[in-house]
Amino acid sequence: MHSAILGTGSYVPDRVLTNADLEGMVETSDTWIVERTGIRERRLVASGQACSDLALEAAQQALLAANVQASDIDLILVATCTGDTPLPSTACLLQHRLGATQAAACDISAACCGFVYALSIADVYVKTGMRHVLVIGAEVMSAITDWTDRNTCVLFGDGAGAVVLGQGSEHSGILSTHLHANGRLSDMIYVPGGGSTEPASEQVLKEKRCFVKMKGNETFKIAVKSMEEAAHEAVKANGVTMSEIDLFIPHQANMRILKAVSQRLGLAQEKLMINLDRFGNTSAASIPLALDEAVRSSRIQSGQLVLLAAFGAGLTWASALVRW
Ligand SMILES: CC(C)(COP(=O)(O)OP(=O)(O)OC[C@H]1O[C@@H](n2cnc3c(N)ncnc32)[C@H](O)[C@@H]1OP(=O)(O)O)[C@@H](O)C(=O)NCCC(=O)NCCS
Repeated sequence: MHSAILGTGSYVPDRVLTNADLEGMVETSDTWIVERTGIRERRLVASGQACSDLALEAAQQALLAANVQASDIDLILVATCTGDTPLPSTACLLQHRLGATQAAACDISAACCGFVYALSIADVYVKTGMRHVLVIGAEVMSAITDWTDRNTCVLFGDGAGAVVLGQGSEHSGILSTHLHANGRLSDMIYVPGGGSTEPASEQVLKEKRCFVKMKGNETFKIAVKSMEEAAHEAVKANGVTMSEIDLFIPHQANMRILKAVSQRLGLAQEKLMINLDRFGNTSAASIPLALDEAVRSSRIQSGQLVLLAAFGAGLTWASALVRW
């Protein structure tokens, strides 16, 4: 028996930051950003709005769609690298706010792969007896973005997506998940300061070491290769062909990455889910955000095969194949 996605939800904050707005903040242009990334605008939290605020909205929607009460959740997993505070976990804050008193709760740290990692963990728990697991990807990337660094600040956005996992059937649900990591490449995307290596200090702040650093060009090449590999792995493991995939939902990092991956996989443009142009790279939130949009706009129909593939800091890469 497979576990299945019983309901989805998502939330993005109201504030829109356009490429034109960024032109006034760093030396860049709308043309450069659109050509190199495909991003036109992104959402940013309002002052005082934190990761759990976004997660709460997405979670409530997912519970409603699944017709599941908060009291019937056994586990809450929040995939995030921008939680409200280092302690406690954002999942615990959410557990309280949802009134999910029976649920265990913890955060999952796997950067942009966080949602697929969390989905994989949730899948195992449901298969081994849990009733419902709430899986959320929620990020306030604007909190770890250096708004004076044009190499990174044009890329990221804030948002959240959620799914409720429960019992599926023999033929539908999560067919497989595949997870990978290569810590040798941990310096491709990282935040050097603010943790135990370089605890928060005036120096860390002054040198902007509490913000994301990235080797963009090298990351780009590895992202394409890794997502392609993870996608092939998912298809092969289930004895299906790439042509049977109805919708491909990759991590929304860069339009050129998405197009290169789907081209290498031989997937037609209409099978590729894209919302990057409106939300930018929302890290762990990107796949569940796109998934919820696909469900609500009826791009996913019952019986269809949906392929998820992610890539992110760590480095990590992962895939999941879902029969809807
Ligand atoms: C970041 C990224 C968009 C840069 O695009 P690129 O084509 O690789 O561009 P490069 O880094 O080679 O930079 C080209 C030039 O543009 C400049 N540039 C960088 N950011 C710019 C910006 N926002 N506006 C204008 N120019 C910019 C660079 O300084 C460089 O100038 P130079 O040639 O004078 O040195 C691209 O590498 C990328 O998306 N990488 C993957 C990042 C990612 O997805 N990370 C998260 C994975 S989860």
